Amino acid sequence: MNILVVGSGGREHVICSCAAKSKKTDKLYCVPGNAGIAQVAECAPIGAMEFDKITVFAKEKEIDLVIVGMDDPLVGGLVDELEAAGIRAFGPRKNAAILEGSKAFSKDLMKKYHIPTAAYENFTDAKEALEYLETAKFPIVLKADGLALGKGVLICNNLEEAKDGVKTIMMDKKFGSAGNEMVIEEFMTGREVSVLSFVDGTTIKTMTSAQDHKRAGDGDTGLNTGGMGTFSPSPFYTKEVDEFCKKYIYQPTVDAMKAEGRAFKGVIFFGLMLTEEGPKVLEYNARFGDPEAQVVLPRMKNDLIEVAEACIDGTLDQVDLQFEDNAAVCVVLASEGYPVAYEKGIPIYGLEEFDKQEGYYCFHAGTKLDGEQFVTSGGRVLGITAKGADLKEARANAYAATEWVQFENKYMRHDIGKAIDEA
Ligand code: AMP
Ligand code: GLY
Repeated sequence: MNILVVGSGGREHVICSCAAKSKKTDKLYCVPGNAGIAQVAECAPIGAMEFDKITVFAKEKEIDLVIVGMDDPLVGGLVDELEAAGIRAFGPRKNAAILEGSKAFSKDLMKKYHIPTAAYENFTDAKEALEYLETAKFPIVLKADGLALGKGVLICNNLEEAKDGVKTIMMDKKFGSAGNEMVIEEFMTGREVSVLSFVDGTTIKTMTSAQDHKRAGDGDTGLNTGGMGTFSPSPFYTKEVDEFCKKYIYQPTVDAMKAEGRAFKGVIFFGLMLTEEGPKVLEYNARFGDPEAQVVLPRMKNDLIEVAEACIDGTLDQVDLQFEDNAAVCVVLASEGYPVAYEKGIPIYGLEEFDKQEGYYCFHAGTKLDGEQFVTSGGRVLGITAKGADLKEARANAYAATEWVQFENKYMRHDIGKAIDEA
């Protein structure tokens, strides 16, 4: 089969690595890709939102399957466009990707189908939101309804902060049209776990659990980022938690989407909070997490293309999804100053080491080639990933491998997976 992956980050690099290994793959393409992806796939300079160009490219290259990695094209309806042109695509259609594309939609869905989540209200009017806040309990959480690069969530400790938050989201439109509507929800406490799953419209099969580290600095300080590192599995995701989630969260979500006429095919990412009252949904995403995919997919024993096809064909019930009984840790190497301002174009050295070692991976996120030389081209540059027999070994291996790579403004967190010590 000829496969095309859409996206340009570390997630798409790991997806391409899996696709390259599949016995079903003849030729692998990626748009727009990055310098690391270009080592395993043929990349073309087409943006992920250039639907017409992607469709023409897919026809021209006789693509049998498109895998859409990123949220924006999914929410924008790329899968629908490809299908309309007769091209098979893995990922939810627009009417199902709304599960991630609108937080107000997903909260209403959870309420209607009794799926555990934080109490909330939706607002389309800033004045009403402000009135509601006058009698609310703090801290409280404000969320822009639409996609906001993972930055549209504000945790407010008091009324003043919350009023500023409403202004930021709904009046100043800091997150653009994502802030036309807003969710105000109860603040929850507990451990966060990410669970990714394959879904074929009816059947859901969950992957091994993971945990992300969203803040820029050690000890969960600093600004929110796209994710500074992950580990998998989460020791806090016990068998009991899994059983509860299967019964009250995972299958009910898939059934709810089907009942709404929005059958979901692709990956549902459950962002969970393990609260004292039990697991609750923080958010849904309609795709693999980044950098969750970097620790989950290398541990998957199945052929990714076979699983993707089963999701499209509605035969996921026949797939025996299996993961290695080990662990993986991913430490993101970022450019100093991320997520605000940082220099790009800086030469990266030491990448050849990863070709020599089994169980170590260097997934590229923001890199490009300057002649023959890899240089930085983004905030998150590389996702250094290693496996180990257990989490502690995987963490030690991943941090050892971060030393193999040098670039001038290299920045990373030093406490990825520290929570493991408390388990
Ligand atoms: P989200 O994009 O919805 O996952 O939110 C980003 C981050 O904000 C989450 O990973 C949590 O750390 C935090 N968060 C979101 N909603 C809540 C909530 N209701 N209570 C506490 N923290 C939250
Ligand atoms: N790592 C969080 C996300 O992909 O949304």
